[in-house]
Amino acid sequence: MIGISVTGIMYTLSPTISSFTRFSPTFFTSNFRLRASSSSSSSTTFLDTNPTLDSVVVEKEVTRSSNPLACPVCYNSLNWTTHHALSIDTILGSSLQCRTCQKAYVGNQTHLDLTAISGAKNYGESMPASTELFRTPLISFLYERGWRQTFSVLGGFPGPEKEFEMMKGFLKPILGGNIIDASCGSGLFSRLFAKSGLFSMVVALDYSENMLRQCYEFVQQEDNFPKENFILVRADIARLPFVSSSVDAVHAGAALHCWPSPSSAVAEISRVLRPGGVFVATTYILDGPFSAVPFLTTFRRSVKQVSGSCIFLSERELEALCKACGLVGFKCIRNGPFVMISAAKPK
Ligand SMILES: C[S@@+](CC[C@H](N)C(=O)[O-])C[C@H]1O[C@@H](n2cnc3c(N)ncnc32)[C@H](O)[C@@H]1O
Repeated sequence: MIGISVTGIMYTLSPTISSFTRFSPTFFTSNFRLRASSSSSSSTTFLDTNPTLDSVVVEKEVTRSSNPLACPVCYNSLNWTTHHALSIDTILGSSLQCRTCQKAYVGNQTHLDLTAISGAKNYGESMPASTELFRTPLISFLYERGWRQTFSVLGGFPGPEKEFEMMKGFLKPILGGNIIDASCGSGLFSRLFAKSGLFSMVVALDYSENMLRQCYEFVQQEDNFPKENFILVRADIARLPFVSSSVDAVHAGAALHCWPSPSSAVAEISRVLRPGGVFVATTYILDGPFSAVPFLTTFRRSVKQVSGSCIFLSERELEALCKACGLVGFKCIRNGPFVMISAAKPK
């Protein structure tokens, strides 16, 4: 497996056995050329070729952590009034009530709407294009049927299975805990997380009702999908419906650049993470040869104004974002424009 030192420039590629999970010795051991760079507080690993994917043997008994769901208005915990356990199959008709403001949240066929305006009949809001685009039925349908695959061709994304294998190194300290797949889209990672058996609870969260519907359908199509402790939640990344310090890990695949305010989002992620909890995310960075493109900063400002999408120009920006939001131990893995970052809530 891959080991990354934060303090210096040392990286290891030796297989290890943790108290939680034993990875098979061939996991992630070959086809890599690692190049280390270091700054005072961060480290970068460059991924030059595709990692091999191998099986993971789970030795730890996962235990169910307590319900982290909170009212998006008050941030206080929600009482489940109808079902003892929430799962994708019991969401329909489930009712959750805020212990403080008494607001009730009711599950529909596919998900639980935990946006602040959930239930408002005569009020609606629209988000920037980078959020609204994914709410359309067409893009939601196409997402896993070709759209996501273009990220590999154009942006160096290794693809969901390999990205999951890569992030396991970062998630190792929290395996067995709960994980939020923030901005899950059609749930390609949420489903991998649930099927891996490595987490006590998986919350697939997105702002797009249609993406969540796609995720629901993909889950229903799978035989023997572990539906227990797997739920779909609609929420805004800048208003996360979780109790503070209740979440072990937040994953955000290919989403940072879509968020209207990455700092509001990462601050929220930092709030909900428990001490030692891990944030892992992927996005792309236009540096290297892109740095020579004239007016790149002006271009990125225009893109932000028109679409709401953020273009990152350096790893330092992402590190500064995490640090500003109270996350420490920034690390990243690069493959061309693709970057996987990780940072943690201080213990
Ligand atoms: C490019 S997709 C990424 C999907 C998936 N995580 C992946 O790795 O392919 C970006 C996702 O971010 C979601 N998103 C955009 N703005 C959001 C917001 N304000 N709150 C929550 N999710 C948001 C979109 O609905 C979309 O599903």
